[in-house]
Amino acid sequence: MQLEAKKISFRYQKNSPWILKDVDLTVQAGERVALLGPSGYGKSTLAKILAGYENPVKGEVFWDGAPLPKKGFCPVQMIGQHPEKAVNPRWKMARIVNEGWQADEQTLRELGIEKAWMNRWPSELSGGELQRFCIARALGPKTKFLICDEISTMLDVITQAQIWQKVLAAAQKGGLGLLVVTHNKALAARVCERIIELPKLNRPS
Ligand SMILES: Nc1ncnc2c1ncn2[C@@H]1O[C@H](COP(=O)(O)OP(=O)(O)OP(=O)(O)O)[C@@H](O)[C@H]1O
Ligand SMILES: [Mg+2]
Repeated sequence: MQLEAKKISFRYQKNSPWILKDVDLTVQAGERVALLGPSGYGKSTLAKILAGYENPVKGEVFWDGAPLPKKGFCPVQMIGQHPEKAVNPRWKMARIVNEGWQADEQTLRELGIEKAWMNRWPSELSGGELQRFCIARALGPKTKFLICDEISTMLDVITQAQIWQKVLAAAQKGGLGLLVVTHNKALAARVCERIIELPKLNRPS
C-alpha cells in the first residue's frame, strides 16, 4: 500500500500564483518521510490535498491505487497545525476525541490527556492540550496513513518527546505510513528515514 500524489498543481484563486506545481510524491505504508520547506512554500496546502481536505487544481492523489474516498472515514488522516481549527467548537472534548473511534485509556494516558478535560469545551483548553486530543482522535485502527503538520510546535520539549514517542509507536504498531511536515531539520532527521524538500516556485510579483 502507498500514498501517491501525481503531478499536483494548486493555487487558491484562478489568477493567483501557483503554490504547488507538478508535485510528485510517493510514501509507502510503514515509511516515515519528512516534508521540509520554509514558511509559505505550500507544505500545509499539500498536506490538505493529500488528506482530501482540498482538491488539487491539477493532478491526483491515490491511496492503495484508488482515489481518496469522497465520503466516510478517510484512511489518510491529517493532524493539523492549528488544532482549534480542527475541532467543532460546539462539541465537548469527549465527543470530539471519539468521533472516528473509541479512543482507549492507554492512548489518552500516553498522550497526557487528563480525565477532567473530557468534559470541557475546546475553548477551555490550551493549544497544546487541544492538540493532544486531535492526535488521539487520529490514531484509531482505521487510520492507515498519518500526515502530521507541525503537530508539536506549540508544545514544550518534554511534551514534544512524549507525543512523538506515542505517534511513532502507533505508526509502527499499525504499519502506518507517516508524512511529517516541518521546518525543523533536527526533528525531521530524528523521526524520519527520508526527507523531501518543496522547491521554491518562481512566483510572478
Ligand atoms: N485559504 C487560503 N487562501 C489563499 N491563500 C492561502 C490560503 N491558505 C494559504 N494560502 C497561501 O498559500 C501559501 C502557502 O501556504 P501554506 O499554509 O501551505 O504554507 P506552509 O508551507 O505550510 O507555511 P508554514 O511553514 O508557515 O506553515 C502562502 O503564501 C499562504 O499565504
Ligand atoms: Mg503550514
